[in-house]
Amino acid sequence: MNDDQLLEKIEDYPLPEALKLVTSLFPGKVVFSSSLGQEDQVITAVIGEHQIPVDIFTLDTGRLFYEAYDLLEKTNARYKINIRVLFPDPADVEAYVLAKGVNGFYESVGNRKQCCHIRKVKPLNRALEGAKVWITGLRAAQSANRSDMKMLEWDEERQLYKFNPLIHWGYEEMISYIQQHNIPCNTLHDKGYISIGCAPCTRAIEPGEDPRAGRWWWESSQKECGLHEHLQDPNKQ
Ligand code: ADX
Ligand code: SF4
Repeated sequence: MNDDQLLEKIEDYPLPEALKLVTSLFPGKVVFSSSLGQEDQVITAVIGEHQIPVDIFTLDTGRLFYEAYDLLEKTNARYKINIRVLFPDPADVEAYVLAKGVNGFYESVGNRKQCCHIRKVKPLNRALEGAKVWITGLRAAQSANRSDMKMLEWDEERQLYKFNPLIHWGYEEMISYIQQHNIPCNTLHDKGYISIGCAPCTRAIEPGEDPRAGRWWWESSQKECGLHEHLQDPNKQ
């Protein structure tokens, strides 16, 4: 069986075996972007427990919740790993803040997307340079935008496979996996937060609200930051 045939079968593999398969096909070229959300913690736990050679990184926008840093430390200690922390280019952030203000993202969707581009998308692109597989914690049930996503996708622009191993997982399935394996999670989840991003752009949700309602809650349109959209620079629109 060649590499493509093996990858075609990846949907049939249990999670640890699927992760082992991609690292054996692309040694040293598999990276995992973790936001430290519940989905990502499941993947990190499997990587840590099975000592799978994946480069795990998180994008520190400079505006994360204190609880995220706490969880980062706890996760590293628990699985004896060292999650790489990537920062935005300070010159980008300084120019943005000078022009728009520290909280300029509340003023317009354009400002908000520009902030996400500087603080998340650009550092992500840097982290993905040279990688052949990019693992994410995306789940199809998270939003309408994500419902058509596949477990394995070819990203033509970045020339890599995007591997979303939890794409078919439901919320309840994920929670019971976390409980069974006693996986450390952000304490904000106990306070009504479901999807967690930057502190000024995330709020807790009420029971029955859409799981992503707490992200950029003041905007009515698409609740995405650009990490999972086609590459674009909002400055050039
Ligand atoms: S976002 O696009 O709205 O911010 P979301 O929080 O749902 O994304 O997370 C989806 C996936 O994007 C995560 O499983 C992770 O792979 C990646 N991701 C999101 N935020 C970060 C971050 N700060 N650092 C690293 N990866 C991230
Ligand atoms: Fe900026 Fe908010 Fe996007 Fe974080 S989520 S990068 S603070 S606009």
